Amino acid sequence: MQVLGSFAIILSIFSVHSTVYFQEQFLDGDAWKTRWLDSKHKADYGEWKLTAGNFYGDAEKDKGLQTSQDARFYAASARFEPFSNEGKTLVIQFTVKHEQKIDCGGGYVKVFPSTLDQADMHGDSQYYIMFGPDICGYSTKKVHVIFNYKGKNHLIKKEVKCKDDELTHLYTLILNPNQTYEVKIDNEKVESGTLEEDWDFLPAKTIKDPEAKKPDDWDDRPKMDDAEDAKPEDWDVAENIPDPDAKKPDDWDEDMDGEWEPPVITNPEYKGEWKPKQIDNPNYKGAWIHPEIDNPEYAADSTIYKFDDISVLGLDLWQVKSGTIFDNFLVSDDVKEAEKFGAETWGVTKEPEKKMKQEEDDKKRKEEDEKNKEQATEAEEEGEEEEGEDEGEEEETPEEGTEEEEAPGKDEL
Ligand SMILES: *[C@@H]1O[C@H](CO)[C@@H](O)[C@H](O)[C@H]1NC(C)=O
Repeated sequence: MQVLGSFAIILSIFSVHSTVYFQEQFLDGDAWKTRWLDSKHKADYGEWKLTAGNFYGDAEKDKGLQTSQDARFYAASARFEPFSNEGKTLVIQFTVKHEQKIDCGGGYVKVFPSTLDQADMHGDSQYYIMFGPDICGYSTKKVHVIFNYKGKNHLIKKEVKCKDDELTHLYTLILNPNQTYEVKIDNEKVESGTLEEDWDFLPAKTIKDPEAKKPDDWDDRPKMDDAEDAKPEDWDVAENIPDPDAKKPDDWDEDMDGEWEPPVITNPEYKGEWKPKQIDNPNYKGAWIHPEIDNPEYAADSTIYKFDDISVLGLDLWQVKSGTIFDNFLVSDDVKEAEKFGAETWGVTKEPEKKMKQEEDDKKRKEEDEKNKEQATEAEEEGEEEEGEDEGEEEETPEEGTEEEEAPGKDEL
């Protein structure tokens, strides 16, 4: 267990058995290269750079692994002592900073069994858990929570939104032995629930009884025709009749025009098709509900959460626009400890980071303003030099000049 100074006593009361399985803050220069192994599965994986980026809260503490080349796959992983999370809470936590205004790229981690060949880690390497943000365009901005169960990857059915700004954010996954989970961003819960409800690991608990069928005499008509109701005798009249107001035109010539017939109009007496009155059906039994039975395929499993051989944490992702920085990895069995680690890392540097970014943004804006001003002044001065010329021609003149210059070039071709 890692404890820091004066917290030692308090911690020993609340979390006697807390264990940190893996922790990585990149605080020892190039030494991370001895802990992280690049996959050689592809020849052209993108290169990782250790840096705090363009803005940060602390130039040293905020150093992390940054993707440094656009449109590349990245694949590196770190190994730790294998452990099982049986009967224990599992916490996976790290920070991600998309300082490059990411358009499309992964920001997640994968947790593997010890059997992973790190030098050959790739997109299809079987993992236990995949967790973290994924952004692509406007439509994909989500936090993946994928668990492998009996060899198959299962995606969470809920939509968990991720952060899409340029600042560092803390992502935490908590998996409890009672098969509940929680996702936190920046130490605040954004999603929680049970494994059984929020993933489709198991077949449905109940199914429609295949033996059951609606009885033939089941009456599910709430209303019926009133047998007492009879069609009135004067009901049936023609729908269309010759217009009684129509008159043969005076100049109608039967030899030339044929026999005159009045135009047909809708009969105002016509009442449509007769239908008997509707009354409540005394035999109505309600809608038939297909009875459900226990699904013989279903077997409860209280060990969905359990991974026996957790041993590698990997970054295996694709990035279109590079620049993402990963830092402050933690794999632990203690929620409070993880919260504290998050607060002591991300929690301490997030405000100064924001401030530095703001100052940089302001500086950039100022520089741009000044450049714009300079250009405006130059244009003004040019205008003054050409004083006396017709102002309307000012803009056209250089274009004409360009065309003249281009003309001989075109002819040469
Ligand atoms: C499951 O375990 C967690 C962590 O111990 C606890 O906070 C939660 O209340 C438990 N939930 C249920 C439904 O037992």
